[in-house]
Amino acid sequence: MEKIIDETKQGETLVLEPQKANTKKLFIESYGCQMNFSDSEIVASILADQGYNTTTQLEDADLVLVNTCSIRDRAEQTVRKRLEKYNAVKKINPTMKVGVLGCMAERLKSKFLEEEKIVDLVVGPDAYKDLPNLLEEVEEGRDAINVILSKEETYGDIAPVRLQSNGVTAFVSITRGCDNMCTFCVVPFTRGRERSRDPQSIIEEVNDLASRGYKEVTLLGQNVDSFLWYGGGLKKDFDKASEMAKATAVNFSDLLALVAEAQPKMRIRFSTSNPQDMTLDVIRTMAKYDNICNYIHLPVQSGSDRILKEMNRLHTRQEYFDLIDNIRKIIPDCGISQDIITGFPTETEEDHQDTLSLLEYVKYDFGFMFAYSERPGTMAARKLEDDIPLAVKKRRLAEVIALQLEHSHINTLKQVGRIVEVLIEKESKKSDAEWSGRNSQNTVVVFPKEHYKVGDFVNVEITSCTTSTLKGKAVGYSSNN
Ligand code: SAH
Ligand code: F3S
Repeated sequence: MEKIIDETKQGETLVLEPQKANTKKLFIESYGCQMNFSDSEIVASILADQGYNTTTQLEDADLVLVNTCSIRDRAEQTVRKRLEKYNAVKKINPTMKVGVLGCMAERLKSKFLEEEKIVDLVVGPDAYKDLPNLLEEVEEGRDAINVILSKEETYGDIAPVRLQSNGVTAFVSITRGCDNMCTFCVVPFTRGRERSRDPQSIIEEVNDLASRGYKEVTLLGQNVDSFLWYGGGLKKDFDKASEMAKATAVNFSDLLALVAEAQPKMRIRFSTSNPQDMTLDVIRTMAKYDNICNYIHLPVQSGSDRILKEMNRLHTRQEYFDLIDNIRKIIPDCGISQDIITGFPTETEEDHQDTLSLLEYVKYDFGFMFAYSERPGTMAARKLEDDIPLAVKKRRLAEVIALQLEHSHINTLKQVGRIVEVLIEKESKKSDAEWSGRNSQNTVVVFPKEHYKVGDFVNVEITSCTTSTLKGKAVGYSSNN
């Protein structure tokens, strides 16, 4: 299934329209979550002001940056292979500088410079505005590092440049960091405390995207439901805020409504929701606005109450079911997807069966499934032995994936014969005679191009399907055009 993340896959190289005055060449590659791709756009925007144009040719670059992911060991190994490649090129072109950005930079800090000596520059996710100074140091022949995590930085004042995209869909960051401390997860350590971005700057970015022809935005955060703006400051300090700040505070449900009303013709999506923080208000707001897509990515990680507790996921299996029931009551045709980890420390066969029975109950549309990978420094690594053999983790993973595929197919089959609204994003990977887009529930739909074009909202009659893709024929423009 294409939605299973392949961490060995080549990263994506960002390309921007060249600025004439710029003479230096930047090769910037990104791995990991959508937030990293979004951050690379911010970095490229900062460096465009420093005389850099982007290039897709590694060999031509003056500066090579890799935005990295630490979420699982595999992700780090992939980046390491790339660093080897950059260093091989550097042997031929010794003036080239190499920098590591993002979560691995934050996790390994100066180790890259002192022990491994494989990079010139190490920059954590909250330090990108310091890049001009850091580059100056590098130019002067010194190694440069800034991995300070911030309690305020949201890059709200930097307009990311998005010229490499399809011009139709864009990501807009609304929070950074995470305070949840799930015991398996490295994110709170690499991305720091959770901060919300000023809603005004979010709306301005969305309005700007709309004026440039974009048709869909995805609001991004590690845990969007805990978005809270009361004039700045961390969420934990909200109680100390003035009465006025509290009265005018904007939560995630409010933000969704603001964005939906600011651009009623734009599709609005968001990711990721944590079940413990998702409120009924958010679900009701989704139901109220037609332009908010009927799709929720709702990671569960495990179906066992005991494992959920060990993971510090602050909800039970039953509470999760109640949330699912409420979503389906309020938005009957809502697409729902999951993240699941198999083989978390101490997971028994019975716990694993609980995960399978949870899948049976929810019957998700699709999912992202992973074998547990111990991350140094996390609570799980400190307190629990990584005691499930790899073969067992993988067998359980295969069982979870097989069941998910069955459910995905049941769900796509249900769509056959229906007419769904699709936003055309790009040419289909398999055929240059077909368009590819998604329906509101986030399932990919492909259909013959005819006279339609990228960016059109089209009604498509579904005629067949695979486990993850719907196929059909356009029957006309949708009323949203
Ligand atoms: N809230 C975040 C979650 C980031 S991590 C978001 O915005 O998506 C994405 C997924 O990676 C998690 O939901 C979890 O299923 C998986 N994951 C995180 N740490 C992991 C680990 N140590 N081993 C295996 N999978 C992990
Ligand atoms: Fe990680 Fe849990 Fe936050 S999975 S990103 S600590 S919600």
